[in-house]
Amino acid sequence: MTTILDGKKCAEKRLELLKEEIGESGLYPRLATVIVGNDPASQMYVRMKHRACEQVGIGSVGIELPADTTTEAVLDAVRRLNADPDINGILVQLPLPKGIDTERIIDAISPAKDVDGYHPENMGLLFSGKPRFSSCTPKGIMTLLEEYQVPLTGARAAVVGRSIDVGRPMAALLLNADATVIICHSRTQDLAGELRRADILISAVGKAHFITPAMVKPGAVVIDVGINQLDGKLVGDVDFAAVSGIASAITPVPGGVGPMTIATLMENTFRAAKEHACGSAE
Ligand code: GUN
Repeated sequence: MTTILDGKKCAEKRLELLKEEIGESGLYPRLATVIVGNDPASQMYVRMKHRACEQVGIGSVGIELPADTTTEAVLDAVRRLNADPDINGILVQLPLPKGIDTERIIDAISPAKDVDGYHPENMGLLFSGKPRFSSCTPKGIMTLLEEYQVPLTGARAAVVGRSIDVGRPMAALLLNADATVIICHSRTQDLAGELRRADILISAVGKAHFITPAMVKPGAVVIDVGINQLDGKLVGDVDFAAVSGIASAITPVPGGVGPMTIATLMENTFRAAKEHACGSAE
């Protein structure tokens, strides 16, 4: 029988626990989001993040900038948020419109407020085995694997995709958990062969039904990070109907990884608030 890794249920449980913890802490964490332009998917994700904030007792501030905003104007907004003692976490929703220098924006976010974990300092800490803020999607996947007691020590894990927000931090987190990790990408030779050796397969490619049964080891745990439109329906990277017959466990899309990303963002924001409170008490 294939286990469906229910990210929605796991995320709800985490959010309930977090709400209690925040209530008991006496803190009022605050997250600022910055969105540039009017991409409907990005707007929807940001709305979901604000809703989650409300659910757990985190204050949220939303900064909306027009699509023709300059890199300098986004940098100004980030610098203001860095300097604002009432803000604990800063999230600049990606992707940014063409023409905006995403790398400069990420580098400008104060590492202590970088609840996305994209800043090179946080990425470096993660890769040196001393994570502070880890990118929310991979960290959420680790939480989900833990919830379902998926063994990681010595397991062969294959990550498909080498992005800074998912593939690379995912590989680092798995490595930190003693898995044997391979990162596959568009230049990987014999992708199917590499993936068929994996006990844990994580796909972050962004192509509908990219992962077929021929790429999956029988009994593997399959994690689908993709969110794609196919014939007007939301689907992942994995051909769910075909692969779920082979995998021992699999995440659905929607209701798998997505809710875990948001729950992790809330956890990271609370962590930032606790660290800032300790800092200001010194
Ligand atoms: N775009 C899609 N997911 C994310 C995320 O987790 N953080 C940011 N900043 N942008 C995103």
